[in-house]
Amino acid sequence: MGRITAAQKANLNDLDLYKTKIKDLKNKNIVLDIGFGNGEYTAAYANAFQEKHLIATEVYLSGIGSLIGLINKYKISNISIFDEDVRLLMDQMPKDFLDSVNILFPDPWQKAKHHKRRLISEDFLYQLHPLLKPNARIFVRTDWEDYAEQISELDEVMSSHFRLKRTQNIEFEFETRFHQRAIKEGREINSFLFTKL
Ligand SMILES: C[S@@+](CC[C@H](N)C(=O)[O-])C[C@H]1O[C@@H](n2cnc3c(N)ncnc32)[C@H](O)[C@@H]1O
Repeated sequence: MGRITAAQKANLNDLDLYKTKIKDLKNKNIVLDIGFGNGEYTAAYANAFQEKHLIATEVYLSGIGSLIGLINKYKISNISIFDEDVRLLMDQMPKDFLDSVNILFPDPWQKAKHHKRRLISEDFLYQLHPLLKPNARIFVRTDWEDYAEQISELDEVMSSHFRLKRTQNIEFEFETRFHQRAIKEGREINSFLFTKL
């Protein structure tokens, strides 16, 4: 994320209006969108699925300012924002709460010694799994081959331990900035969809 612009900064004045309040979200179809970047995918997804509520999480203020700009511009009413590490919010969620999780282009932490910082790991799945409703889905997309390999290796743990089955049928296509950059730089995009049995 780049430097914060004046418009993004001004939009942050509205952050309190949009903050996620878990207790207000019971009995809704909830999508957890982790690391929304500049929020373009999140806004388009929320617009395409107005019956769902998106909990959009990001730590970068410039990105949060951008998403608030999109929410205000397009009068989007089905997004709330969590502006800290998503795992802190997950700690507060009740069991069987989430219908979907979207993780588009998670930070790759390219150096081998930093791979342990990657979000998608066994520990993360231990935290996430109880929060998923039956038939919930997790959608992950990465353009880093060794991150895709790491996720493929987790596939066995997912199916045997967490009963998350790899499935097809991606429900919504949208090319984020990271997606377009990966194509331009010749990196393959790997998409994963897991469904909780
Ligand atoms: C490579 S960017 C991808 C952004 C966006 N999903 C896209 O495809 O354009 C990854 C984003 O995840 C955010 N992020 C990383 N770890 C996070 C965490 N634990 N909680 C919330 N956001 C996180 C980062 O701040 C970063 O903006």
